[in-house]
Amino acid sequence: MYLCICKAVSDQQIRQAIREGVRTVGEVSARFGVGTECGKCLDSISEYVDACLAAPPEVPAPALALPPITQPAPPAAATDTAPVQTAWFAIDL
Ligand code: FES
Repeated sequence: MYLCICKAVSDQQIRQAIREGVRTVGEVSARFGVGTECGKCLDSISEYVDACLAAPPEVPAPALALPPITQPAPPAAATDTAPVQTAWFAIDL
């Protein structure tokens, strides 16, 4: 959602700026130029900045729980077959 229509600055951009250290509406204005045209956005941006700073820090999403990797069962022991050979490859890039 745009918080400053004149400069086409969204709430996401402002939230990202706050994550990067912006703490005042003046700093938001210095970064994006908000409030330098009609100025009607300054009050709402100031409230938004205050709300973002008052909110608890965002918690990163939990890592996905992946199932354990299982190895296929080894083939049944054969008595009269050739031994299993392992192939190795080397690729120069
Ligand atoms: Fe931000 Fe006009 S809406 S300067």
